[in-house]
Amino acid sequence: MRLFELAHSKIKEIIKVGDCCIDATLGNGHDSLFLAQQISPPGRVFSFDIQESAIHEAGSKLDAAGLGEFVSIIHDCHTNIEEKVPIQYHGEIAIAMYNLGYLPGGNHSIKTTYETTTNSLLTTYELMKPSGLISVLCYRGHAGGAKELDEVEKLCSVQKWSFEKFEGSNNPTSPVLIVIRKS
Ligand SMILES: C[S@@+](CC[C@H](N)C(=O)[O-])C[C@H]1O[C@@H](n2cnc3c(N)ncnc32)[C@H](O)[C@@H]1O
Repeated sequence: MRLFELAHSKIKEIIKVGDCCIDATLGNGHDSLFLAQQISPPGRVFSFDIQESAIHEAGSKLDAAGLGEFVSIIHDCHTNIEEKVPIQYHGEIAIAMYNLGYLPGGNHSIKTTYETTTNSLLTTYELMKPSGLISVLCYRGHAGGAKELDEVEKLCSVQKWSFEKFEGSNNPTSPVLIVIRKS
């Protein structure tokens, strides 16, 4: 099983119709579509991306699937999650997904950084409901990717968060999935 499938299967174990979720890295919209399929109606997904091309591509995908009305697409950095997710959802988020790195097929120089990722994770953790799950798929094969994974793991340890780590293979550049559960 590939790591994105493992993330989806961990999420499927706990997600329910009506849940509220965050997709912190919308990209081409595959994860937001997956989340919207699990929670609607009447749940909600708040999906963030800094790239206009991702916003358009994902929006079209969600509309074509008839699920656009359940997803709030937010063209902004995921460090602004607290301000952009309406206050009534704070403390109510069941699932948050981070799929780090760059947009496949897009500009590879526009990618997540360890600074914004860890900053955003700190905020997202506070918005989660107890027993909520955050999946963080880290790619070590690009410049900055290994450092980003290190910083995510360090954050989990320093914050004493409960988390599991899954490695795609023994290859030191293969992707790694971190699954955080809010206690
Ligand atoms: C690997 S892609 C995400 C794939 C996506 N989850 C999917 O299902 O197609 C990473 C995305 O993160 C976005 N990104 C990079 N930095 C960001 C930031 N600070 N805030 C929000 N999105 C960011 C990129 O523009 C890119 O689209």
